[in-house]
Amino acid sequence: MESYYVTTPIYYVNDEPHLGHIYTTIAADVLARYQRLAGRDVFFLTGVDEHGQKVQQAAEARGIAPIALADQVVERYRSLWPELHITNNDFIRTSSDRHKKGVQAMWKRLQDGGAIYKDFYEDWYCVPCESYWTETQLKDADCWDHKHCPDCRRSVEKVQEESYFFRLSDYQQRLIEHIKNNPDFIAPASRRNEVLSFVESGLNDLSVSRTTFSWGVPVPDDEGHVIYVWIDALTNYLSALGFPDQEIPAYWPADVHLIGKDILRFHAVYWPCMLMAANLPLPKRVFAHGWWTVEGEKMSKSRGNALRPAELLAQYDADVIRYFLLREVPFGQDGDFSFTALKQRYNSELANDVGNLLNRSLAMLQKYRGGVLAEAGEEHASDRALIADIEGMQRDVAAHLDHQAFHLALERIGVVVRHGNRYVEENAPWALARAGDDARLDTVLYHLVETLRLIAIALLPFMPTRMAAMLTQIHGGSLPQEISFASQGGWGVLKAGHQSEKPQPIFPRME
Ligand code: MSP
Repeated sequence: MESYYVTTPIYYVNDEPHLGHIYTTIAADVLARYQRLAGRDVFFLTGVDEHGQKVQQAAEARGIAPIALADQVVERYRSLWPELHITNNDFIRTSSDRHKKGVQAMWKRLQDGGAIYKDFYEDWYCVPCESYWTETQLKDADCWDHKHCPDCRRSVEKVQEESYFFRLSDYQQRLIEHIKNNPDFIAPASRRNEVLSFVESGLNDLSVSRTTFSWGVPVPDDEGHVIYVWIDALTNYLSALGFPDQEIPAYWPADVHLIGKDILRFHAVYWPCMLMAANLPLPKRVFAHGWWTVEGEKMSKSRGNALRPAELLAQYDADVIRYFLLREVPFGQDGDFSFTALKQRYNSELANDVGNLLNRSLAMLQKYRGGVLAEAGEEHASDRALIADIEGMQRDVAAHLDHQAFHLALERIGVVVRHGNRYVEENAPWALARAGDDARLDTVLYHLVETLRLIAIALLPFMPTRMAAMLTQIHGGSLPQEISFASQGGWGVLKAGHQSEKPQPIFPRME
């Protein structure tokens, strides 16, 4: 069986989960579910990033040990995922022994290959972002006068310490070639160009150890040094798979790392260079999505306006949240979350379009045939057009999801939903019943129920519980034992004599 490995970033434990974190995780879940339906052996990883100065400081401020703080926040993530119907196969904590072992092994590989050396380090450090800036970078970004971080605009501090360095500059040429030879490696394309020009402008060696705090993975044989949090964090993608016990673990290389645009440089520059130095295969793709604002405003800790999953889940079903987040904004672009937009989309696309098709189709099957399907008769042009549209949808959705274009996949499914509703009007089953045209009525009802079923299967990765409810009604009260594209994805699975249930609204209108 072909494997598929999808990851999310591992989330910092110095903040509680918010909209940005659930976004990536939901997107990854949709890919994982889709690939499972397509028959692939999927490994879907998420987890938490626990080390670093920020967490140590936050814990100190509360008078507790860093691990105690981490334990609290980790639980918030762990318990949230089932509520959002997330089906991760594993959850990695960077404080776990399996991870620390992986990080130290990675370090040793880099060191043994001559990619790490010891020197002195003087730089500017942004504590909140955990990022280091050179004088030149600050000057270029016009941040030198007030000594502030080009990313978050808060103050940076000067630091000088003995440090290990990673020979990032040695890999510049190879990375440029890799990006050029693998056009799908970094997405979307605009981000790829951004990374390419960053790399072409020259890479400096990277300081990869710290002596100023202790909450992290110690450098092997030099315990005064802690391994730089990004080497630590990035290695999670391998340690979770059993590296180093398995040198190139099953599922590696990842099919796609889903990340936010703010951490692209770490994933598309540092990580591939580390892997080259460690002589390991590179991930196939890194996709950087955009950022959400909420009701037109940037979410920030200081403003206290971060949208928390609990607030969302109190008002909307998880499936509706999943649908909206992936439908509203093209994946890769920034977007704004608003409750008004959510309600509008829900009412027009889910309650009206999908709900209506489900309702009227199953209701007519009840009314005219007691819920029992009969054989479809001779096909008319409108029947053939509907089937062709569904088959086109299945191909298009596969292609869109291969490129993480969730919004296009949903748009395409929406085309078939509207086609289904048009088909009802064009074929007017009520008129066929009145005219006593039984053969044609049976054919139309058959096409409607099959269409519904295949729409539900296409939407299943996005809205797993609502679509399972829809399939249950179609299948007469229980789900098929196995749902896969191979077993259920084709036209004509339902046979004459098949009994469906009375329709129950799955998307009641919201006022
Ligand atoms: N710990 C690092 C990642 C290490 S991965 C080896 C980290 N953690 S984070 O918790 O700060 O951020 C996790 C993700 O949330 C990032 O991908 C970031 O882009 C995303 N988001 C944070 N705020 C966001 C929005 N407002 N909108 C969308 N995503 C956002 O970075």
